[in-house]
Amino acid sequence: MGIGATAGVAAVGGIALSAQAAGSKSTSKASGALAFDPDGYTKLTTTITDAAGTEHDVTYHFWKAVTYVANPVDEAYQSLNVSVPVEIDGTAVDASGAPILFANAVGGYMPSSVADATGVGGGGMTGIPGGGAPGASASAAPSASASASASSGTGTGTGEVQSGGNAMVNGGEMVSLPKLALAAGYVVVEPGARGRTLKDSDGEYYGVAPAAIVDLKAAVRYVRANKGVIPGDTDRIVSSGVSAGGALSSLLGASGDSRIYDTYLKELGAADASDAIFATGAWCPITDLEHADGAYEWNWGSNVTASTGKVVDQTVSKALQSQFAEYQAALKLRGLDGFGPLNARNYDEYLVKQYLEPSATTYLAALSASDRATYLAANTFITWAGGKATFSWADFLTHVGARKKTTPAFDAFDLSAGENNEFGKGTTVSRHFTAYSLKSDTTGLTARRLDSDIPEMLRLMNPMYHLGKENPGRSRHWWIRLGTKDSDTSLTVSANIAAAADNLGDDVNHLYYWDEGHGSNTDPGDFIKWIAKVSGYKGKRK
Ligand code: DHB
Repeated sequence: MGIGATAGVAAVGGIALSAQAAGSKSTSKASGALAFDPDGYTKLTTTITDAAGTEHDVTYHFWKAVTYVANPVDEAYQSLNVSVPVEIDGTAVDASGAPILFANAVGGYMPSSVADATGVGGGGMTGIPGGGAPGASASAAPSASASASASSGTGTGTGEVQSGGNAMVNGGEMVSLPKLALAAGYVVVEPGARGRTLKDSDGEYYGVAPAAIVDLKAAVRYVRANKGVIPGDTDRIVSSGVSAGGALSSLLGASGDSRIYDTYLKELGAADASDAIFATGAWCPITDLEHADGAYEWNWGSNVTASTGKVVDQTVSKALQSQFAEYQAALKLRGLDGFGPLNARNYDEYLVKQYLEPSATTYLAALSASDRATYLAANTFITWAGGKATFSWADFLTHVGARKKTTPAFDAFDLSAGENNEFGKGTTVSRHFTAYSLKSDTTGLTARRLDSDIPEMLRLMNPMYHLGKENPGRSRHWWIRLGTKDSDTSLTVSANIAAAADNLGDDVNHLYYWDEGHGSNTDPGDFIKWIAKVSGYKGKRK
């Protein structure tokens, strides 16, 4: 629960603030355990350097570890922090109508807690640089710290996480979207969420699919149910997340108000309110998991693996590639800007023309003439003419070099991938979620079929499922980013989300960052500006 106020004070405060807000907008629907305590904050001051390098003195109200469901399974994760700016650079700020950045800090489908954060941008997993308060969730998620540091990318072992939640980097510098958003005058909500390694005393895994997305939806519902009490515009909730957090952010955007989560939300005692969000920000989303093995081989099949220096079993790789061809054709997506139907035969050309060459062009154009000459001399596969970079897909793949993962990248034959754990159930730590990998299982499983609940779990976890259905509750604005050297998944994964949203008529802003790896965010200031643009927010100084 919120700190700093007794229940009695909370009730009085809640009534007082609702009454104030009543004249303008509707009042809070939340009651009882789900009523936000408007007085339960501490006033904090911090200095935030914005994306342009300018320092800002920010005074804000900080609500810590507010439980967002009535029947929590584990409050350490099912709680959120709220930060509301009240003064920026000595000028009073009224954030009551500001967009709300809903920034999850999930990484690796691991548990994510904000309970020990000491201020804005402090959530995340233990031991992740920039991922939050030291010691956060250490006792409840013992494996988070150890696995999070295993970032060498040598394979797909359980618990191996390449980056942490909110662990975005820009040229080696940590990027905190929560901090940048606060300094821009926005309200920031940072939700915790259960993750795959959480196990209770009976040995039951209680954070595996679909726990994380159900938690994030419950948190959105909580914010909306407390409209007018939690400052900010609940019609302008903008989600952000990186990697597994980017997957969950895009899923949140795609699945707004979908009924397929109802029973899970009800069980938790989630607020009775919409969980639709206005806009979605997703960096390197690790999603569409049941099709990701095929997509991975289509993309990186001929590259050597970092851990072995060898190419993977080409029979397996080819079999998976043909699955990708079938899947991609069935999606019936059209590429952006009139490219036409996307398939396994033309997706290389699509990526090169739509994303990779423009990405290299932007990168090279920003260099000084001498730096550009040096780069081009070291990368002769690029032709630079008329201010534009051109190259072939094959040369691009060679340029990227070793792939991070073995094969299959996500549903490992030996159940060792983190995603196998994400689809664990009950006391079973890891399960197969594709028929192909079950058939090739090396752990001694004899089942011929996937467990009967797996198809439902896959639907619950996959934004592509929802985007194929034109869900009316989906977000209509999409900011998607991915590094061109990110081989944590296929480069087609985010491009497919972008194409699916675009084909539905949504506003899509998707760029690839040239030569950047997993978790990079080299244009965070543009995202902050984009939030103002799509939400129509002009800022409000008192
Ligand atoms: C993350 C990275 C992965 O390679 C993966 O398979 C799942 C999640 C992450 O960084 O969150």
